[in-house]
Amino acid sequence: MAIGTALLGLLAFLLGCSGTSAEPQNSERSAMRKCVLTGNWTNDLASTMQISNVSNTGAFSGIYQTAVSDSINPIRPSPLQGVQGQGAQPVFGFTIKWNFAESISVFVGQCFLDADGKEQLNTTWLLRNMMESRKDDWKATRVGTNTFYRTVRG
Ligand SMILES: *[C@@H]1O[C@H](CO)[C@@H](O)[C@H](O)[C@H]1NC(C)=O
Ligand SMILES: *[C@@H]1O[C@H](CO)[C@@H](O)[C@H](O)[C@H]1NC(C)=O
Ligand SMILES: *[C@@H]1O[C@H](CO)[C@@H](O)[C@H](O)[C@H]1NC(C)=O
Repeated sequence: MAIGTALLGLLAFLLGCSGTSAEPQNSERSAMRKCVLTGNWTNDLASTMQISNVSNTGAFSGIYQTAVSDSINPIRPSPLQGVQGQGAQPVFGFTIKWNFAESISVFVGQCFLDADGKEQLNTTWLLRNMMESRKDDWKATRVGTNTFYRTVRG
């Protein structure tokens, strides 16, 4: 009986220890799993983008290489400017001024982490093309969606 109580005491002690040491491990794991956009990404159409370091206010810049275009000009890499939120699965937005056409795209999206920690950017975009006159304004804007997958970690 006395031995049984001692064992229970030891067990409680061990459980207590593992309980306190489990705490930092858990927050370490969730910190590791926070999605930061820095790095290289590719989407379902094989367009790619490289995103720079994200500042402490969430601002970032990057280069976008599109695989598709409705312009007659040859495609060239174009600069992007954006901001991301602070959460583990942050929302973000960025703007691209296309280098080879008088047009601008804006993307909004969210970085989702799946159960394996794989990141996926689900986005919706608007593309504004320049029109020669206001009567063509009705057809100036397109909308679409793209999903991006990480190729290189930042
Ligand atoms: C990331 O993307 C940039 C721009 O397209 C490219 O030059 C670079 O090689 C890529 N990095 C890796 C490691 O693939
Ligand atoms: C991010 O910052 C590190 C250290 O300052 C630098 O070595 C690295 O090249 C930067 N990466 C990008 C994608 O800007
Ligand atoms: C993100 O987009 C992919 C591909 O379109 C879709 O299968 C997936 O359900 C989306 N994820 C979320 C969390 O909406």
